[in-house]
Amino acid sequence: MSIAYLNGEFVPLEEARISPMDRGFLFGDGIYEVIPSYSGRMVGFGPHIDRMNTGLEAIHIGLDWEEQQWRSVCERLMEENGSGDLGIYLHVSRGADTTRFHAYPEGVAPTVFGFTFDIPPAPVADRSSTKTYTVSTALDLRWRRCNIKSTALLGNVMHFNQGYAGGNNETILYNDAGEITEASACNVFIVKDGHISTPDTDHQILPGITRLLLLQILRADGSIPVEERVVTLDELQQADEVWITSSTKEVAPVVLIDGTPVGSGQPGEIWERAQALFSEFKYDY
Ligand code: PDD
Repeated sequence: MSIAYLNGEFVPLEEARISPMDRGFLFGDGIYEVIPSYSGRMVGFGPHIDRMNTGLEAIHIGLDWEEQQWRSVCERLMEENGSGDLGIYLHVSRGADTTRFHAYPEGVAPTVFGFTFDIPPAPVADRSSTKTYTVSTALDLRWRRCNIKSTALLGNVMHFNQGYAGGNNETILYNDAGEITEASACNVFIVKDGHISTPDTDHQILPGITRLLLLQILRADGSIPVEERVVTLDELQQADEVWITSSTKEVAPVVLIDGTPVGSGQPGEIWERAQALFSEFKYDY
């Protein structure tokens, strides 16, 4: 039975209850994180908590937890839930008000919730055996604060389903200027002529922790040039390799975009090198 954390207590997930007046439920008024952990070792714990604190500040939810408090919750969740390959979901909503009113309420305690779910084993950097991904593309119709990891995910959910309905694993999004933003639940990288590029972080994308770690790891290694810059839809379609990154997928090779093969239609050699480096150094951050 899965054990969850809710407002100071560890309880069976089926027994966890929140009020229907919780603003997370009524307005999607909250911030969340997904931290991957493999055999009890978390990836990017510090950066994940930093991003959550940035999000909480941006939407004026006052919850001053020390990093150590989050760590204790995560460690207990891993202990209770078997420490396999887990996504640790952390969620802070503004809490339950007595009425439905858009203004931020005074004196309402935030709701803090955490649970774990199984994630696939970490990918192995082997071109011949790795899982491959197919995507569709679509105009990004979400809001202009995608840098905030808001629990209000309807825009992302709708975009995900555009791809999923066509038998794809994801939907890669582009803006009105034909520039790639991100995917519905992943960041995007392309490779062309041995150069890796990924869109800059701004209000149009979530600053992914996998993206952040991968950039730092690639730059520390230094053997493959890597750049944050505008990436166009046209470049995506002409790329030798395309990857999508997220906490539950690490570096995932895309082999088909809107039915057209990416490069050779197989995971590329730069992907293999990047995933190998990620596997080697991901616990260092
Ligand atoms: N999704 N962009 C969006 C819109 C995302 O929702 C995510 C993560 C990412 C990648 O971020 P990170 O590397 O920090 O996981 C990019 C999570 C896993 C989710 O919602 O389940």
